[in-house]
Amino acid sequence: MLRGGKVGLRARHEDDIPVLRAELYDDVVNSSRAESGPWRPITPGYQDPRLVVDDEEERRAPFSVVELEGGTLVGSTVLWGIDTHNRSAHIGLGLLPASRGKGYGTDVVAVLCHYAFVVRGLQRLQIETLSDNTAMLRSAERNGFVREGVLRSSAWVLGEFVDEVVLGLLARDWTRDAQAQVAVRTRG
Ligand SMILES: CC(C)(COP(=O)(O)OP(=O)(O)OC[C@H]1O[C@@H](n2cnc3c(N)ncnc32)[C@H](O)[C@@H]1OP(=O)(O)O)[C@@H](O)C(=O)NCCC(=O)NCCS
Repeated sequence: MLRGGKVGLRARHEDDIPVLRAELYDDVVNSSRAESGPWRPITPGYQDPRLVVDDEEERRAPFSVVELEGGTLVGSTVLWGIDTHNRSAHIGLGLLPASRGKGYGTDVVAVLCHYAFVVRGLQRLQIETLSDNTAMLRSAERNGFVREGVLRSSAWVLGEFVDEVVLGLLARDWTRDAQAQVAVRTRG
């Protein structure tokens, strides 16, 4: 398990799947804002690739997010689009509604930076999010991500086109403080 200050990132367990499905993917508004395609109902038992992990898929590293204290499931995160030639990847993240606004999102991004830059040796991370998603923008910026551009009207979200923001962080700009904090916590 990878450990941050408040949350841990561990492998997906079978019993995480119905919780994540009900609280993230069955929620039309959350799903429409977080996914690049339209919301559709998912048949119970369907091996949804967003939830059911394929350990042989080398371009994705999915995690379940749990509280360090008690181990309660609080969300899902993924390092996706892992490109070992350009040494880059993207971050995806969704927390259960009751676990938002507690600093967990910021902590997850910090842990994924450690995983990507230190464990995987990547040199660039990217996050795409809707321009009105203040919590995601702040979680990224708190970890040193900078806004690199705006994709105007690029996302169709529940009846309107919305801008997306592209944020990037290079390994060389990842702050020594952030690096040291996560490295200490992931030891042992
Ligand atoms: C986006 C998300 C991962 C952020 O995680 P979080 O744990 O809620 O965020 P944090 O508690 O770490 O807060 C980060 C910052 O955003 C601010 N913030 C949190 N919720 C906010 C809200 N609803 N509105 C405005 N600001 C908010 C916090 O005050 C904090 O700001 P600071 O760094 O200036 O102190 C989480 O809210 C979530 O899962 N949302 C739904 C799914 C989603 O949008 N995923 C991202 C798709 S790209």
